[in-house]
Amino acid sequence: MVTSVCVIGLGYIGLPTAALMASKGLRVLGVDTDAGVVSTVNGGRVHIVEPDLAGLVREVVARGALSAHAAPSAAEVFMITVPTPLTAERRPQMAYVEAATRSIAPVLKAGDIVILESTSPVGSTLRMAGQLAALRPDLRIPGDIAIAYCPERVLPGRILTELVDNDRCVGGLTTACTERAAELYEIFVRGQVIRTNAPTAELVKLAENSFRDVNIAFANELSLVSDRHGIDVWDVIALANRHPRVNILKPGPGVGGHCIAVDPWFIVDAAPEQARLIRTAREVNDAKPDWVMAQVTALATAEPDLPITCFGLAFKAGVDDLRESPALEIAERLAHAHPGRVAAVEPHITAPPKGLEAPLITLDAALARGGIFVLLVDHSVFARVPAARLAGARIVDTRGLWRRGR
Ligand SMILES: NC(=O)c1ccc[n+]([C@@H]2O[C@H](COP(=O)([O-])OP(=O)(O)OC[C@H]3O[C@@H](n4cnc5c(N)ncnc54)[C@H](O)[C@@H]3O)[C@@H](O)[C@H]2O)c1
Repeated sequence: MVTSVCVIGLGYIGLPTAALMASKGLRVLGVDTDAGVVSTVNGGRVHIVEPDLAGLVREVVARGALSAHAAPSAAEVFMITVPTPLTAERRPQMAYVEAATRSIAPVLKAGDIVILESTSPVGSTLRMAGQLAALRPDLRIPGDIAIAYCPERVLPGRILTELVDNDRCVGGLTTACTERAAELYEIFVRGQVIRTNAPTAELVKLAENSFRDVNIAFANELSLVSDRHGIDVWDVIALANRHPRVNILKPGPGVGGHCIAVDPWFIVDAAPEQARLIRTAREVNDAKPDWVMAQVTALATAEPDLPITCFGLAFKAGVDDLRESPALEIAERLAHAHPGRVAAVEPHITAPPKGLEAPLITLDAALARGGIFVLLVDHSVFARVPAARLAGARIVDTRGLWRRGR
């Protein structure tokens, strides 16, 4: 039975996972290369906003069940949760995983388990094993060390709940590796822990986010087709979804965040000739901000005296996360194209993000100033705006909140 785990990378995934495991009786060592993260966690505090996380971290650090460190030390399980962003050429950036792997090699001993959780291209777990084997020729890897991949599929804002309730798939390099890693997850996961192999588990994660991206691209493309015909896409979707086997998602200004807009490229990079639909979906979603810009530009040119207000900057409703946000991209481009005319409303942040040359104003002030309203995020406060307060405004509504006759 496992009693100690070393988690490498204490971000949105690593810190909640570490704290949860510590609350289930495991001794958890958290490791981060960011000294600020280490001292924050050791102070019983958190550097990320996530419901219930602050209280949990305070409690497990106070009991000594979780401690943070600058470098790994001996444990029975090593879990790698470091970033895997895209390079400028839209290729997987595996340098963090490689550095994390290098950092654990000196402290590994026979009987340990190494689990990669970072979203990674197919073959990464095997490459990680190869890297460890080269650094530790005294160990049989896999054999003396169990090696597995286990993707993370939590929703920010519900991480602590979903870490427990979601099903997990665990894929080892051998069935023995799978079994040993799965036993760790069974300590804290209430969902099913499903056994598979490493490449399957790697592709499962990429497939999940690509599925979402392709389906959103379908909705986005349909919005362009509907517009071409002068038909309201939201009517089309509502009526088509009456079909018992049709469930069209909602169009929007594009796709953002650090998962859905990123992970499909990992599939395209490794199988460019096969992944034609996945690539096209990425391109369709990435092009949607251009279409929104064209709509606003037509209005802004026709009536050059009207102010322009962007409603929402976050990458999706109900969050303050601006990473890869198409709404922010559109606001920045509009502010650049129409200096002095653009303002933005984003109820979840207090100051304009760096790069946005437009003031942040309140919802009330925005509605009062009238002009061109560009609805970019379906935040609930925007859904509650009475129709009377929109009267007279020229509206570009990318989320279907402010349609006629709603
Ligand atoms: N955040 C999510 O909602 C989510 C969901 C599913 C999967 N993922 C995947 O999980 C992985 C981690 O994502 P995240 O959002 O937690 O990232 P993050 O940026 O929030 O945190 C990563 C942490 O790792 C640290 N780090 C980097 N290199 C290190 C090293 N060599 N040793 C120790 N620490 C190191 C960083 O300082 C940072 O604190 C990524 O592959 C991501 O795609 C994230």
